Amino acid sequence: MDKSKSSHPYELKDITLPSNAVWHKSTVCPAERAASMGQTPRCIWLTGLSGSGKSTVANALDATLHANGFNSFLLDGDNVRHGLNKDLGMTESDRAENIRRVGEVAKLMVESGLIVICAFISPYKRDRQMVRSMFKPGEFVEVFLDTPLSVCEKRDPKGLYKKARAGVIKQFTGVSDPYEQPESAELILNTTDITVTQGVESILNVL
Ligand code: ADX
Repeated sequence: MDKSKSSHPYELKDITLPSNAVWHKSTVCPAERAASMGQTPRCIWLTGLSGSGKSTVANALDATLHANGFNSFLLDGDNVRHGLNKDLGMTESDRAENIRRVGEVAKLMVESGLIVICAFISPYKRDRQMVRSMFKPGEFVEVFLDTPLSVCEKRDPKGLYKKARAGVIKQFTGVSDPYEQPESAELILNTTDITVTQGVESILNVL
């Protein structure tokens, strides 16, 4: 038997769910899908304050990968909250559910062979750790956009900091809600003084 076919982590679990759903094995394994795309699938997770540059860098990274013949896809917080997660708000538990769902979607995309780029504030360590634990070692690459709050607030691209300071938006990350900094991100980027291209290159260098 081809060993690569038995390496799928979820085939081996004895999963019992409230719905009595039983895992159905796929004939085509993730390694075969990745091989047919000719690339190493990854989940590149960008975390940081609103205005830190996540969406900009993530979009440029996606475009660069695409232009170079890689199969990538971008999951962006604001966009996902227009559809899949439009029922979720910004409470701690809603943010946790937001990150859990996105993690599951990203995991499926990685299993399909894609390089998935996720841009989410994801302010809680526990939630980021939960997503990391869904992936095999090396598959999850955490990039901390460590742009200071003062810079993010000065940029204020959507005018949200202004509203948060005025009390119009509650539970705003960095203003009236916490952001727990990553301690062991694969890469830290402060976008205050770097170009978008430099940010993209730094990420490509750690893949
Ligand atoms: S997360 O905390 O659950 O990871 P996510 O990245 O999906 O957040 O969404 C963040 C986006 O929601 C921000 O870019 C901003 O446009 C918008 N937003 C609306 N309300 C808030 C808030 N209270 N705190 C942070 N961002 C908010």
